[in-house]
Amino acid sequence: MEEMRYITFALGKGRLAYKTLELLEQIGIYCEEMKDKDSRKLIFVNEELKLKFFLSKGPDVPTYVEYGAADIGVVGKDTILEENRSAYEVLDLGFGKCRMCVCGPKSAKELLQHHEMIRVATKYPKIAKDYFYNEKHQTVDIIKLNGSVELGPIVGLADVIVDIVETGSTLRENGLEVLEEICPISARMIVNQVSMKMEFERIKKIIQDLQKLI
Ligand code: PRP
Repeated sequence: MEEMRYITFALGKGRLAYKTLELLEQIGIYCEEMKDKDSRKLIFVNEELKLKFFLSKGPDVPTYVEYGAADIGVVGKDTILEENRSAYEVLDLGFGKCRMCVCGPKSAKELLQHHEMIRVATKYPKIAKDYFYNEKHQTVDIIKLNGSVELGPIVGLADVIVDIVETGSTLRENGLEVLEEICPISARMIVNQVSMKMEFERIKKIIQDLQKLI
């Protein structure tokens, strides 16, 4: 009999990965080794189930999946939208819920009404561009930052930001608020397009088992 090939999962490092492992355990997919938070190891194998798991930076997950280095990936919808890679998005896992929003001081609300040229700071230039150019038809100057984007309007770098809002406490504590909502975000499972055909039965079973849980 032909040897079963490994199915490889790419998980975004951090909270999302641990949540995903918890969910996978509930459908009988275990990777004990991976739960050791002190480990620096990047790739883990379950010989019995012929599965491999690796951890990468979130934004790299869609890249690994598009190129087939991973068959399956779990990553936030924000990353999927920003990276714009080819892969099938097969499942909303229902955790990691938050919202992609335009935020700023209350006074900036009016800058969003009249197609004014404004400055937008964000970790998500593609999402910001799509929203302002294609949905709002407002020409804006997009400034890419790598984190703590809320600083943008506070220090006078930008008029507004496009960022993720979860509890809203970062905004509140910095005198900012949600001005417009762009879209809801949560963790999604994505699948390589070729793997979906080559390993249809095994991948379908994983999707269906997870669907029953969610
Ligand atoms: C995210 C996001 C906001 C914050 C929102 O930042 O960019 O800053 O969380 O969460 P809240 O609404 O619950 O306050 P993250 O902690 O990922 O770090 P970053 O600022 O370096 O991107």
